[in-house]
Amino acid sequence: MRYAAITGWGEGMPPAVLTNDDLSTFLETSDEWITTRTGMKERRISHISAVEMATIAASRALACAGLDASDVDLIVYGGCSNEEVVPNSASGVQVALGATHAAAMDLNTACTSFIYGLSAATAMVQNGTIRNAVVIGVELISRYIDWSNRNVAVLFGDGAAAVVIQASDTPCGVIGSVLGCDAEARQVLRVRGVGCGYAGLGITFGDTMWDFDGQAIFKRAVKGMTEACAKVMAQAGVTGDEIDLVIPHQANLRIIEAVAKYAGVPMERVMVTVHKYGNMSAATVPVSLVEALKDGRVKPGSLLLMPGFGGGLTYGALLVRWGDRVVPFGESAMQMPEPTQSALDMVNAVRATQDPNGRSRAGLQSPVFAEARAHSRA
Ligand code: UT7
Repeated sequence: MRYAAITGWGEGMPPAVLTNDDLSTFLETSDEWITTRTGMKERRISHISAVEMATIAASRALACAGLDASDVDLIVYGGCSNEEVVPNSASGVQVALGATHAAAMDLNTACTSFIYGLSAATAMVQNGTIRNAVVIGVELISRYIDWSNRNVAVLFGDGAAAVVIQASDTPCGVIGSVLGCDAEARQVLRVRGVGCGYAGLGITFGDTMWDFDGQAIFKRAVKGMTEACAKVMAQAGVTGDEIDLVIPHQANLRIIEAVAKYAGVPMERVMVTVHKYGNMSAATVPVSLVEALKDGRVKPGSLLLMPGFGGGLTYGALLVRWGDRVVPFGESAMQMPEPTQSALDMVNAVRATQDPNGRSRAGLQSPVFAEARAHSRA
């Protein structure tokens, strides 16, 4: 039996920090509300493109694995905030890395894109299609969040991380995988204004409106992740006692606590980064994995559980058996450039391009848009 060992890991985190107090300068919100309802204190705002963040993460993961870019067979770019659709973003990472022999694909299942991507790439290693892959989770949400809507604006942040997987005979890497989609509720999380359904309606990228039913997402997130965890653990015949670390999607501390409780794992064995980075959608799980490795919380042979959920509403859980090595082979020379502006200045620059009332933007109010809305509900 062939396995896909995780042999490299790296992050591409933008350094500029947006605090809860920064958000209070332009939204009717408070540090107290955000902290108690979500567990979030800070999030990052990127000054570089999503492809650049992804490239830094991928380059670091390759150096960590001791693998040359020319040895990569596949790049999976997981995320839902791609700057372009054609050409795809994975090809942008490929050219920047010089991974001349790689195939390159984008995979969008919103916040679960890394989980789906790692599951798919592992299967391709196992069936012999490829030997080595880079799997990336990346989001640049700050450029298209509706900054006038406090229901969503306080929740999200930018970031990227990547892993390298390589064919191996040792039983390690993803050893269990459960994926699903609660599609009946697909309307509870929708970003209007991105995609060809909105073409020709006078709506430009970034002029977006978010449909976001927080409570409905909350309940379905807990249900979807809990069921996926139970299923993947039952398949492998393991209980919560045997899980060394849960590395969950980071959308809300209360969701994480509920999922850990149902999985039978105490919070001491759960990786939490939501206070530092907010919800980075597809990037939360890989960034949390990289931080867990840096903090020495992943040991040789550790059993990891990675549950997630996102727009769709997609959900899933991976069971990962770590290999022998928890120390990088090398370091990438690729550095994150310094930002020239503060996070708040960058956010204010995006806000200046958006109508301060958000929902009253001309494009979004047009009768044509109402028609698009009716269609997209279907
Ligand atoms: O990764 C996938 C994406 N998203 C998610 O996973 C999010 C899942 N949902 C959640 O995490 C939570 O539902 C939220 C954090 C979004 C909201 O927490 P909640 O405890 O469900 O609050 P709520 O929506 O019931 O709102 C409570 C109150 C409301 O006021 P009233 O109606 O009680 O007067 C809101 O208007 O809090 C108000 N509120 C705010 N107040 C201050 C909503 N957003 C804010 C805010 N600051 N940012």
